[in-house]
Amino acid sequence: MKKLTASELRKMWLNFYKERGHALISSASLIPENDPTVLFTTAGMHPLVPYLLGQKHPQGNRLADVQKCVRTGDIEEVGDPSHLTFFEMLGNWSLGDYFKKEMIAWSYEFLTDEKYLGIDPAKLSVTVFAGDDDCPRDDESASYWEKAGIPRERIYFLPKGHNWWGPAGTTGPCGPDTEMFVDTGKPACSPECSPACSCGKYLEVWNDVFMQYNKTAEGKYEPLAQKNVDTGMGLERTVKTLQGVGSVYETDLFAPIIAEIERLTGKKYGSDEATTKAIRVIADHIRTAVMIIGDEKGVVCSNVDQGYILRRLLRRAVRYIKQLGGGMGILSDVARVIIKEYEDVYPELRRNADRVTGEIDAEEQRFEKTITSGMKKFAAIRDHLVGDTIAGNTAFKLYDTFGFPIEMTVELANEAGLKVDTEGFDKAYKEHQAKSQAGAEQKFKCGLADHSDRTVKLHTATHLLHAALKRVLHDDSVTQKGSNITEERLRFDFNFPRPLTPEEIKAVEDEVNEAITAHIPVVCKEMTLDEAKAIGAEAHFENKYGERVKVYIMGDKSTEVCGGPHAENTGDLGHFRIMKEQSSSAGIRRIKATIE
Ligand code: ALA
Repeated sequence: MKKLTASELRKMWLNFYKERGHALISSASLIPENDPTVLFTTAGMHPLVPYLLGQKHPQGNRLADVQKCVRTGDIEEVGDPSHLTFFEMLGNWSLGDYFKKEMIAWSYEFLTDEKYLGIDPAKLSVTVFAGDDDCPRDDESASYWEKAGIPRERIYFLPKGHNWWGPAGTTGPCGPDTEMFVDTGKPACSPECSPACSCGKYLEVWNDVFMQYNKTAEGKYEPLAQKNVDTGMGLERTVKTLQGVGSVYETDLFAPIIAEIERLTGKKYGSDEATTKAIRVIADHIRTAVMIIGDEKGVVCSNVDQGYILRRLLRRAVRYIKQLGGGMGILSDVARVIIKEYEDVYPELRRNADRVTGEIDAEEQRFEKTITSGMKKFAAIRDHLVGDTIAGNTAFKLYDTFGFPIEMTVELANEAGLKVDTEGFDKAYKEHQAKSQAGAEQKFKCGLADHSDRTVKLHTATHLLHAALKRVLHDDSVTQKGSNITEERLRFDFNFPRPLTPEEIKAVEDEVNEAITAHIPVVCKEMTLDEAKAIGAEAHFENKYGERVKVYIMGDKSTEVCGGPHAENTGDLGHFRIMKEQSSSAGIRRIKATIE
């Protein structure tokens, strides 16, 4: 077995596929496009869903990459030797090109050949799909494995729970898979011990998925027009196996991060269980936060969706830093080390470095104001509790007043042997939300309070403003984060890290007014979301892949997916004026403007 560094493994992977006719593509954003069913990209195939369903990929039908992934389902498990919330997935794809025979031969070659990973074939076991009503038993894959050199007794047939992958969200491409395991040499935990067992004897390093089904919203598996291969090798996990260390945190990937946490807190990884766990949580959570904020579609902390996960990660990290006796500013110092380590692989981190450390510091400061009193409050609740369950309203108060994410309260409660009425929390939360004005309904109506002539015109002006901001700020990542329109004014929220200068505000107004005086007809076209993307339309997160959408086009000034309604001609709008430009929340600016 070769002792490769993470960087060597990435390069080896990409070269292997390049030599086999694959186009190398770069990692897509961590924020999935057009899949509102999940918050983050969870696998290499996720950004490729349209192509697995049959659309032509511009770079051909053989692809390979290293994809940034986030999975936060097991966030509480982080701290053990293997769980991570961010990981990199080495992947390769056949879009209706090669299939099982070639893929299994290559998998065996990459794993065992001395030129590549050089794993002793005697240490390899594989699993294949056992078959059920949806899809037959995969004897074909088993026969290729046998031919490659894996004896029958190390080929295991397992059901859907083990050997089926996908879809990434609730619908989409999926199929039976074959998984590869390295035997760690640990004794079998029982006579039945197999790769299906989680005792730690067998470590999964790679998964080849034969994607030939589409799971529908009704839960049916329909055969796809083309047979695809989708494979995924977890970088951290494989590096851990190759480097022969006991945990992903002991690989070269984490060494500089952990050294920095040790330096800043004065505590030693490995000195005792609680310290080791705390250092792992801090390392994992800051790494993930750096990736989420530094992404090309950069997220900032908030109380919903991705922003909430980010907040949870950072606040959890703060709690563990405090446990180690560390002070303020450690988060962003660790973040700087992480950026340095990853910026060559993900150059967006270099570009967005200031935004990353700025957002992390800002969130730490926000939490710092309340965490000490919140912890005291929690201790008082714990000490005076009658029974063993913290009431939903009490948990909501910890959230609302002290900024404790509910999951943190649950974790603190569990550590004290207590429970939390999370349903009661949800109820209190929903009641609170219903009172706050930001309803989903508004979001889907493009933020229009009604459809009066004036609000329709302001809506059209909003599109022109959106496009003008991108142009004036020379920043294509500037995008709508919220919109609300009343008779009096439009209100437009967008991501941008600093206030606009008076010159920029003037230039934005001028851009919009130029578009108005040019009397451009507003044209509405219906098309699929992909067609919309192909013509460069601005699209919002809630649009689904495959959906037919309306695109409003205003000459070369604005092209945006939107439900309407809009003015017929930009010339109908009147003079556009920005009344106010201010901060809305961290990293989000708000413009209020009107037409006169
Ligand atoms: N999509 C497959 C996985 O994530 C390869 O394991």
